[in-house]
Amino acid sequence: MTVWFDARSDAELTAAVTDSFRHEFDVDADEVWAAPGRVNLIGEHVDYAGGLCLPIALPHSTAVAVSRRTDGLIRLRSSDGAPWDGRLADIGPGRPAGWAAYPAGVIWALRENGLFAHDFGGVDAVFVSTVPIGAGLSSSAALECSLALALAPDADRADLAAACVRAENDIALAPTGGMDQAASLRSSEGHALLLDSASGAVSQVPFAPEGLTLLVIDTRAPHRLVDGRYAKRRAAVERAARRLGVASLRELADRGRDGADAVRSLKDDVLRRRAWHVISEIARVRLAVAASESGDFAEFGRLLYASHMSLHRDFEVSCPELDTAVEAAMVAGALGARMTGGGFGGSAIALLPAEKVDDAIDTAHRLAVDRGLPEPAFAVVAASAPAR
Ligand code: ADP
Ligand code: GAL
Repeated sequence: MTVWFDARSDAELTAAVTDSFRHEFDVDADEVWAAPGRVNLIGEHVDYAGGLCLPIALPHSTAVAVSRRTDGLIRLRSSDGAPWDGRLADIGPGRPAGWAAYPAGVIWALRENGLFAHDFGGVDAVFVSTVPIGAGLSSSAALECSLALALAPDADRADLAAACVRAENDIALAPTGGMDQAASLRSSEGHALLLDSASGAVSQVPFAPEGLTLLVIDTRAPHRLVDGRYAKRRAAVERAARRLGVASLRELADRGRDGADAVRSLKDDVLRRRAWHVISEIARVRLAVAASESGDFAEFGRLLYASHMSLHRDFEVSCPELDTAVEAAMVAGALGARMTGGGFGGSAIALLPAEKVDDAIDTAHRLAVDRGLPEPAFAVVAASAPAR
């Protein structure tokens, strides 16, 4: 039996989160906001190297119902976490522990970055989400961005995204780059977001390939960004840049042949492969944008698969579950497929002719079961609305 993970309409999500707020606090919430999860089409593990990435916002979102307070108290509730009550003074690196670090961190970062329009007087907030947690689809960014927008709706979205990244890095202690928060806050329906992490600039790339379906395969292999492997990859990329005398590997990606030669000169085999992934991935993003703009989705698909192979072989962040999902999609006739997000578990995406989707789902399911892997869950997605 196929397991789906479904999005819900804004009206349904609003009804669920307002009910939940009333149930928790016995009064009605003042406002409801929402922010989406994301899948990255291409440009993986390059955001912290000043690279280019191309995510879309998912139809799956986290909604937050909020009411402002005047006594400084912060009360955070989620159907997927233990309740947390505290104050600004209780928030710091690694405090609170667990899920509340993300929303509490947002409040701390909004204040640190001077984004509150008025003095912060406390808040009651209740979250309900359809972004699966731990599936590599940025549930944490959706959580952060929904609250950031709720508490500072008039702030510039690039500034809100920066505050959410600060919450994640400095309070939740996950050393991630900025792609997920940019995708959640700054994308546009029907478009992929081309994010230039060196300048912070974004542009909207139309993405609604006719006759094709974008399938997300959640392998249900739990992924963790805080268990050290992500941090290790990031540290290797930064070490490679230092050895090559550049501030970030993006500089080498922009130097074409000379940049590639510089990477090839790295003596350490592991560092060389990590750096090669980064500069080749940035080149693939540029080609993918051109392919998408000219409607050449066969080429776009080839680039997705090349990205996967680079992440598998040179960056070593794939795993048997992700490789199986990608293999199944390709066997079923996908134009391309790849892992998406940080890796080590989580989800894969596949771009398929609409009539091949059922076969891809069936093959992915059967191959996983045959290999003793968890049964995957599926969603058909399109480039959806940003935080609202
Ligand atoms: P992913 O992007 O794969 O979902 P992350 O590591 O970015 O994984 O974030 C997962 C963490 O975010 C969870 O372990 C939990 O602490 C927190 N989280 C995300 N969404 C929610 C939610 N709706 N309620 C409670 N916690 C959440
Ligand atoms: C995670 C992380 C992002 C990005 C990605 C890999 O999703 O939060 O910042 O580095 O992995 O491309």
